Amino acid sequence: MKSATQSPDLDTSRISVSAHYTGYIWYKHGLSAAGFATGTGRFANAALAPINAFLRLVAGADIDIFLLQRHSVIDHQVRDLIEQHGIEQIVELASGLSPRGYRIKQQYPHIRYIEGDLPGMAARKRELLGRVGLAAGHDVVECNILQEDGPTSIAAVLASLDTSKPTLIITEGLVNYFDLPVIRSVWARMAQGLKRFPQGYYITDLYPDFADHPSYRYVKMAQKLVGLFTRGQWPLHYSNDNAIRNGFGEDGFDQVDVLDPASFYGQLNLPEVKIKTLVRIIRCKVSGE
Ligand SMILES: C[S@@+](CC[C@H](N)C(=O)[O-])C[C@H]1O[C@@H](n2cnc3c(N)ncnc32)[C@H](O)[C@@H]1O
Repeated sequence: MKSATQSPDLDTSRISVSAHYTGYIWYKHGLSAAGFATGTGRFANAALAPINAFLRLVAGADIDIFLLQRHSVIDHQVRDLIEQHGIEQIVELASGLSPRGYRIKQQYPHIRYIEGDLPGMAARKRELLGRVGLAAGHDVVECNILQEDGPTSIAAVLASLDTSKPTLIITEGLVNYFDLPVIRSVWARMAQGLKRFPQGYYITDLYPDFADHPSYRYVKMAQKLVGLFTRGQWPLHYSNDNAIRNGFGEDGFDQVDVLDPASFYGQLNLPEVKIKTLVRIIRCKVSGE
């Protein structure tokens, strides 16, 4: 296993294929616009249909259900931060083919929204948004979360923002592609960077290692599948909500909320399942220096 001290491979573009899958799921479930769906995404979804059907049968939920749960809860938290906590700037990293920036800008035109991704995906997204309509104050930039400094680092993206405004970083479908020490060093850099703003927030999804989950063996199966698809590992992080809270606290966040999608059943438009949920949404805050 790699540690943060053994510098990780900085070229993780093999992961970008997964953005086609998730992008297609958002589109298929009416959360997106036509331009965001790709042939690769449509093909991957069709290819995985038998596996998803099997997972629904034996485990009571499939991969897409957990994707939709995380997407809805993240959207809800983002809207809450805009409407109740005065967020004015959003940096969505590893945004892939997600329509979130497009939708947020339609609903809240005053928000400064920057999407970041690896060069190939960023170029594709810029071209896509150019076609469907890129609003003023919405940009796509190259950003590699593993770069500690330089023009494509998280620090460089944050440096382009107004430090007098409350700011939010979002990642979705990213953090489980990295070993824990590697992603923790990214989280620590985010927490540090967000301190420059009067309030800094970070929202991410996280798939924990719930070894006591009744469907754990199917989770391990899905884990292998994602790893195969993206030609790498897809490690699960932390074994319970407390460990998550402690970890993010140690990484520099002052306030950490660990949200279970099940606590939003009946409130938000998200698929409900009988089994215990497998994904968590983490909402953290740092206070300015
Ligand atoms: C599963 S997709 C998620 C896309 C989008 N957030 C969504 O939920 O639909 C993973 C994304 O991570 C991006 N990615 C992979 N490695 C990255 C890195 N080192 N820095 C920034 N983005 C990265 C990929 O290009 C891809 O767009």
